[in-house]
Amino acid sequence: MQQNLTSRKRLYEQHLHTLSEISQALGEKDRYTQAHGHRVALYAMRLARRLGFSPEDIRNVGMGGLFHDVGKLALSDRIFTNRENRLPRDLRQEVRCHPLIGAALLKNIDFLKPAVDFVLFHHEREDGNGYPFGLKAGEIPPGAKIVSIADCFDAVTTNRPYQKGQSVASAYKILREGCRRYFCEEYVETFIEEIEENGIIPDTGPDPLLADKLVRSAAGYNVM
Ligand SMILES: [Fe+2]
Repeated sequence: MQQNLTSRKRLYEQHLHTLSEISQALGEKDRYTQAHGHRVALYAMRLARRLGFSPEDIRNVGMGGLFHDVGKLALSDRIFTNRENRLPRDLRQEVRCHPLIGAALLKNIDFLKPAVDFVLFHHEREDGNGYPFGLKAGEIPPGAKIVSIADCFDAVTTNRPYQKGQSVASAYKILREGCRRYFCEEYVETFIEEIEENGIIPDTGPDPLLADKLVRSAAGYNVM
């Protein structure tokens, strides 16, 4: 029993180390993507909590948010140095692979398995025109729908190298206009209620402890 616990702890420490390395590597490649992942995790957990998800599901959604773009690690540097609003066609095609790459990276890590589908499906759309599979509303897991809304809101309201952040009101408009085509309407309205009540997350860069806290709690070490 004691040996089991020790080997589980050791395995957990190894996984945590791997994840910190992945997160750090992503930060070195693109600091925006790293900090964005941290904010998406926090927004996604807030929405999941407001929707009444269990503590375990809230954590899983948080991990999905944290690592939703981890597959971008494998993308070409030209994508990160691009300063145009729209990427050239070949690079757009490449970007469309990142959910598959991210899911492949995470699927063998035991306590991240429940979050893999949220990474894999975070660019699916309600109307079936998303990627990589073109799933429709009822086929998309709720956690992926949540990550998708948090992802859009943070992407719109923060500054990127090629684009200045827009107002919260503009982000609400974009989310509401995207209902039924892109996003689940009920989740969008609940998300807006949550932001109105508890505010936005400031753009202060990555939270170095967030991955650690989420992974610890997912591994059964109750620190959240
Ligand atoms: Fe993404």
